[in-house]
Formats: sequence, C-alpha cells, structure tokens
Amino acid sequence: MTPEEFRKYARDLVDWMAGYMENVENYPVKSRVKPGEIFKNLPDSPPSSPEPFESFMKDFEEIIMPGITHWQNPNFYAYFPANSSPPSVLAEMLTATLGAQCMIWETSPAAAELEEKMMIWLRDLIGLPGNFEGVIQDSASTATLAAILTAREKASAFSFNENGASGNPALRVYCSDHTHSSVEKAVRIAGIGRVNLVKVPVDENLSIIPAKLDEAITSDKERGYLPCCVIASLGTTGTMAVDPVKAIGKICTRHGVWLHVDAAMAGTALVLPEYQWMLEGKEYIDSFVFNPHKWMFTNFDCTAFFTRDPETLIRTFEILPEYLKTRTRGQVNDYRDWGVPLGRRFRALKLWSVIRSYGVEGLREKIRYHISLASDLAVTIAREPDFEILAPVIFNLVCFRYRPEGKTEEELNIINEKLIHRLNDSGKIYLSHTMIGGKYTLRMVIAQTNVSSTHVEGAWRLIREYSDKTEA
Ligand SMILES: Cc1ncc(COP(=O)(O)O)c(C=O)c1O
Repeated sequence: MTPEEFRKYARDLVDWMAGYMENVENYPVKSRVKPGEIFKNLPDSPPSSPEPFESFMKDFEEIIMPGITHWQNPNFYAYFPANSSPPSVLAEMLTATLGAQCMIWETSPAAAELEEKMMIWLRDLIGLPGNFEGVIQDSASTATLAAILTAREKASAFSFNENGASGNPALRVYCSDHTHSSVEKAVRIAGIGRVNLVKVPVDENLSIIPAKLDEAITSDKERGYLPCCVIASLGTTGTMAVDPVKAIGKICTRHGVWLHVDAAMAGTALVLPEYQWMLEGKEYIDSFVFNPHKWMFTNFDCTAFFTRDPETLIRTFEILPEYLKTRTRGQVNDYRDWGVPLGRRFRALKLWSVIRSYGVEGLREKIRYHISLASDLAVTIAREPDFEILAPVIFNLVCFRYRPEGKTEEELNIINEKLIHRLNDSGKIYLSHTMIGGKYTLRMVIAQTNVSSTHVEGAWRLIREYSDKTEA
C-alpha cells in the first residue's frame, strides 16, 4: 500500500468510524450469529496475490460485522463494560501508527515516562497513598498474577523463583467465594495450587468477614502452612460487594501477609470523593488494581496496577539477558521488569488523551451520572410488586429478578433464565446474570460511555413487557 493509498483509505475509515460511533445504537447489541457461521464464511486459505483494501472492507462489513457484539452500544448492560471514547480511539490510532514496542525505557523513552506520569495522575486521582508506584498491564488478571507471584516471592524469601516449590511449606492465599476467577487462575499458574486457595466466609452483604479471615490464617500457621496473600475486592463481579480493607489490612499486617486489592471495575468510582470510604485502611494495602478499560472510557486494554513495594515486584520479575542491558538501567523505569510480558504496547497515550479530554470534573460528572441512573432504576424496580432487588446497589450495578406470585424457587430460576435469553435475543439490550444464594439473578450494569436515562428507561420498559409474557 502506497502512502497515497493509505491516506485515502484512512480518510474513508475515519468516516466509517465516526458513522459507526453515531449509529452503534442501531446495531443489535448482542451478535445473533450461530456458532461456526463466521468461520465457514471465511476462505480456507490466504490469497496468493495481493488484494485491494476495498475487498477487505467489503468482507469486514459482510462477514465480520454480523458477528460483532456491540460493546459500545449504550444498551450494553452485560458483564462489566469495555468502554471506549473518541479521545481514546484517536490516541489508539497514533499508537498503532507509531507501532512502538515499549519493553524498556530505551525502546521508547516517552512511553515509559508518560506511563510513569499517568500512573502518578491516576494514583492521586483515586486517592492511593503517595508512596505507591504504578505500571500499566494488559488486564486485571495479569496484574493479580503479578501481585500473587510477588507475594509468593516475598513469603518464600525469593526461594520459589530460584528452587521452585520444593523445600517451601505449602503457601496459602485467601479470598471469598465472590472474588473474581482470575485469582484462582493466578494461584494455579503461580504453582501454589488450587487447594491452597482458602475461601473465607462472607456476611449478608457478601463481604469478607475479617474475624473468619483471621481464624483461617491463624489455623493455617498452626498447621505449618505459609500464608502469603489476601485478595480483598472493591466491587466483586457478581454483585459489586466491597470487602472491608481496613479490618482485613490490620490482619494482614499482623500476620505478615501481602494484601492485594482487586478494584477492577469499582476502582473508577474512587475518583469521586464520596467513594473514598472504600479506601479506609489504604496504608495496609500492598498492591492494587483497577481497569480504566472498564469504566474510565479508555479502550481495552488498559489496567492500572499499583504497589507500595516496587522493589519486591521488580525483584520477582527482573531478568537481565545480555541483549537487554542498557546504559540507563537503574536511572529509569524499565517496565518489562514490572510484570510477565517483555513486549509492551504504548498504552499510556490513550489514558493521557482521555483524562485531558474529559478533565477530572468531566470524569466525575459522567461516573456520578451512571451511579444515579442505577439508583433511579433500583427505585423503580423496588416499587414493582412482582420484581425484587437482590443485592445492595452501591455503584452502577442493579441485581434483580422477576418474581411473579405463586412460583417455586425452581420455577423462578427457569422464568428468569428464559427472560434474559428473550431480552438478549431481541438485540435491543444485553444483560448478564449471576446466582445469589441459589437465585438466578439478572445483572444490569449501567456504565456504558454513552448510556442515558432514555436508554435505561427504554430498557426497563422492555424488561417489564417481556417479563409479563415469560412463563416457567
Ligand atoms: C472484579 C474483577 N476482577 C478482575 C477481572 C478481570 O479483568 P480482566 O479482564 O482485565 O482480566 C474482572 C473482570 O470483569 C473483575 O470483574
């Protein structure tokens, strides 16, 4: 492709992109294709001679687009969002064009230093202590893995990295049943073993009971285990429950255990002063993760990972082959030493673009608006005699179910499962579900970049209408 051709296609593409952003609401939110449908429409082998970009675009429209679930549709209420925004997309265009690989400071000093600055901005914005340092990771799963590996090395005096598991007592990690599955995955990958992931009981709000955590750690120590890490969640995936950081932190400090906080979704709410209560006891936190790629309008992937002990983190990951030795080592941040991958994208640019474009007050306004939409919806649902709210609405997630009279719990589960499938198949809205105490629960997350009261009210009318027609 010549520079002139690139210019032409890029201009056309920008029109396509702007048109998509304007019209994304008119696409079915959840893709309706059947398994294998896209695959069978793709050629079995690559073309032997060059093809024009026009034919690529034609196939993109005809084959790919029907198989896309439109996460940027404001009626996307499923899972947690993967928000985008125009300033983020623009910066991603620059990142793609530069094509820089930012593994060490020397391979792109601006990327490393912008990342360092953005992490300071974010740290201060969400109210973490000033001695925390941060790094951008691809996902919260990777960040949590990094935290657990670091905790493992600290607990084993770095002997696990050196000798493997042999010679070490069995390590133990603690979380609740509601903690994200990335913790179990990390525990497995870290060689700690799933059986050594201890699930601590929760209270009626699905928050960890600190006394039970203390009991579990004390009993494990007595039995010769080596407790190494506790994961507290600020906003669990199912219901956005919040674990009490201060009480958990005191226990961790007393037992010499690393405290990792997973605030993947709800961390963004910390930009609001009225949510700082979640960070009470922040001085006890060893590491903390949240995802600007969820609720902070920054394209996937962009995870902010902070620790107050970067030395231990770096000692866990650093490895220095000859070809990576530089003259600046020790004077700068070589972020390859701060996590698993060597190669790194230039992710700080989109974060910079987003924060500058919204401004702190703009971010706060949007986040508050989402929270207010969720609390208004919860009030509406609570007024309906045949609906039920199933978890406290603290942020932007409403957990509820349809509960017509005279049905057994089993029938209610069947009705609600049918209801969500009908809603999602309509293409008009997309919700996801969880189980709370055996009850099939609809989850509606109100956090899409462009969601408004009109969307939420329309979504609720649809839920109301479809529920009346759904039988067991
Ligand atoms: C609480 C929590 N932690 C971790 C994750 C994993 O996030 P990622 O997809 O960035 O690995 C999620 C995903 O939704 C989550 O809800």
